[in-house]
Amino acid sequence: MSTHPLLGTALVTGATSGLGAEFARRLAAEGRNLVLVARDAERLEAAAAELRERYLIEVWVLAADLATDDGCRLVSDRLSGRDDPIETLINNAGVGLYEPFGSVPLSRDEALLDLNVRAVQRLSHAAINAMTATGRGEIINISSVSAFLPRGAAVSYAASKAWVTAFTEGLALTAMGSGVTVGVICPGFTRTEFHARAQVDLSHLPAWMWLDAGQVVAEGLADIRGGQVVSVPTRRYRAMILLSRLLPRPLLYRVMASR
Ligand SMILES: NC(=O)c1ccc[n+]([C@@H]2O[C@H](COP(=O)([O-])OP(=O)(O)OC[C@H]3O[C@@H](n4cnc5c(N)ncnc54)[C@H](OP(=O)(O)O)[C@@H]3O)[C@@H](O)[C@H]2O)c1
Repeated sequence: MSTHPLLGTALVTGATSGLGAEFARRLAAEGRNLVLVARDAERLEAAAAELRERYLIEVWVLAADLATDDGCRLVSDRLSGRDDPIETLINNAGVGLYEPFGSVPLSRDEALLDLNVRAVQRLSHAAINAMTATGRGEIINISSVSAFLPRGAAVSYAASKAWVTAFTEGLALTAMGSGVTVGVICPGFTRTEFHARAQVDLSHLPAWMWLDAGQVVAEGLADIRGGQVVSVPTRRYRAMILLSRLLPRPLLYRVMASR
């Protein structure tokens, strides 16, 4: 584990909305300069201007589509750069896909993997090399409670998040003793733009299942910086995962078939 607090620049992907915007605010409140990444350049500039004015920090923006080679290269180059090294990487950008597998062109599932898996792998690769060279830094990847559950309604999404969790645990072992902290945050349903973008209606979910982005980010950061590798924010979601592990698998499949 590195000696917190880190003071250098932090890079957040998917920083214009939801959890990413909340990470950016938290890191700005720590006095960290920021690099914000997303596709929508106008929205990035607006977010950067707000953070500069409110927290009196420097904020740069990188408009990049992380589902593409060019977008990943642009951000990886920033992570590898020796001037003003990035000390915190938050791999947060991600998309959901809730159409039954096979009912939409495979390219939709492939694009999901490009962003949720390949971009995380590529940016982590650039960051771990740069950070271990200086002996300080943190890489925090955003997974989901879906990583722990078989999900009939979100097949590729759940599998992508299982990959993120397993990948991060392995990377955390690799990084032990290097001065670099590596961890993964696995949120439950959180009020953001995520489900509207995925065009899924979750209005039937009870209110207690919905989390607030501020709560997820505060708990997640505290867990990872406190030495946990895998953080599942809130007691109710930790209990749900424990229960899913205790249930006989065939029963769990019945419960999760349409979820
Ligand atoms: N909300 C939940 O219930 C929930 C639960 C568990 C896990 N998560 C995970 O949390 C992470 C953040 O989700 P969120 O809920 O905060 O979603 P969100 O509100 O939809 O925000 C997504 C962010 O990612 C950016 N983005 C999307 N596609 C991108 C691409 N191809 N390249 C670069 N940036 C891209 C978006 O900006 P642009 O559109 O401008 O690119 C936006 O800033 C995701 O990894 C998600 O899987 C969310």
